[in-house]
Amino acid sequence: MKVLVVGNGGREHALAWKLLQSPKIERVFVVPGNGGTAAMERCQNLPLSADDFDGIKQAALEHGVGLVVVGPELPLARGLADYLQQQNLTVFGPTQAGAQIESSKAWAKGLMQEAGIPTARSAVFTDDHPEAALAYVAQEGAPIVVKADGLAAGKGVTVAHTVEEAQAAIEASFGGQFGIAGECLVIEECLTGQEVSVLALTDGLSVRPLLPAQDHKAIREGDTGPNTGGMGVYAPAPILTPELMERVQREVLEPVVAVLRERKIDYRGVLYAGLMVSPAGDIKVLEFNCRFGDPETQAILPLLETPLEDLMLACANQTLAEQPPVRWKPGACACVVMAAGGYPGDYQKGDTIAGIERAEAAGAVVFHAGTRLKEGELLTDGGRVLGVTATGDTFDDAFARAYAAVDCIEFEGRYFRRDIGHRVRRGGL
Ligand code: AMP
Ligand code: GLY
Repeated sequence: MKVLVVGNGGREHALAWKLLQSPKIERVFVVPGNGGTAAMERCQNLPLSADDFDGIKQAALEHGVGLVVVGPELPLARGLADYLQQQNLTVFGPTQAGAQIESSKAWAKGLMQEAGIPTARSAVFTDDHPEAALAYVAQEGAPIVVKADGLAAGKGVTVAHTVEEAQAAIEASFGGQFGIAGECLVIEECLTGQEVSVLALTDGLSVRPLLPAQDHKAIREGDTGPNTGGMGVYAPAPILTPELMERVQREVLEPVVAVLRERKIDYRGVLYAGLMVSPAGDIKVLEFNCRFGDPETQAILPLLETPLEDLMLACANQTLAEQPPVRWKPGACACVVMAAGGYPGDYQKGDTIAGIERAEAAGAVVFHAGTRLKEGELLTDGGRVLGVTATGDTFDDAFARAYAAVDCIEFEGRYFRRDIGHRVRRGGL
């Protein structure tokens, strides 16, 4: 079978890499891909944009692709899965209606209320009545969280420590900071605890969680400084014990799938629950995403033993309930992100990257997040550049291997955190 993967990040490199491990996968096309997918055997980048629905359809039909996997949220929110399904292509990724679970936080909150899913107390405001939003935060007090309703490239959430900060965020959002995405706001209670991601596969009828993963969003060590797309991740996150995973299944995943079904929404792909686990062990949903996490996917897939295409096809063909249980390798996986200096602010692109082969010889897999190949030379091409990933019997082993590999890789201004996995290192699993 041939597969077409849409996207150009570390997540898509990891998806293509995992699919290519199966003898059943003849070739993977990536739209538009990156330097890592360009260099893999039996993998080919197609110079198309993820917005070019017609071009993607033509390529899928021309190459006789048996499965299209849509990586990022934006094309899903714009209806790429609907468009390709109408051409009788087999698609892994929810329809536009389903993608609202990520593309509208107000819609997701409504769904959570209907399904009785534990989440932060919240209220929704629109820019017709900014005074109502301002009065709400004055009444609720700080800390409080202000979220742009729509997709804002990960920048739409302000965790405000004072009422003034919350009010400034409201005014900026209603003033046009996020365009149309910020014309509506969800304002909610600030939760404390540890964040953890559960990525689940669903065919719209049943739902199977993958191993839980814990991401590190802050740019600096000690989980300080501005938030990023993710500076490193590990799986399986021990905070979600088997008992808590069972509760996530019963109290979060199954009710969401049931409500989507009641609403007649066709959802075949990843349902990603971003959770907050309180010190007392309570679980609340912070957000849902309609796609694989990045970088969570890079730490989850190396441990997956079941062929990924079997699971994806079962989702796309609505036969997930018939699949045997998902099999995992024992042990742990660690992924350390190497970023360009300055990220998540301004950063430089086009610097030469050296040492990937040595890093892989040291026992890691290097997933490319923001790179490109130019005349055979590998160059930086994004804020997050590489996800250096390793497995091991314990977290200590996995991180030792990942960091040994990181030390082999050089590029101008490279930046990474030395403390990824601080909660699970020393002492192992
Ligand atoms: P979201 O896109 O909704 O997940 O928000 C992005 C980040 O903001 C999350 O990963 C959390 O770190 C933080 N966040 C979101 N909602 C809350 C909340 N209710 N309480 C505390 N932190 C939050
Ligand atoms: N790592 C967070 C996300 O994929 O949204």
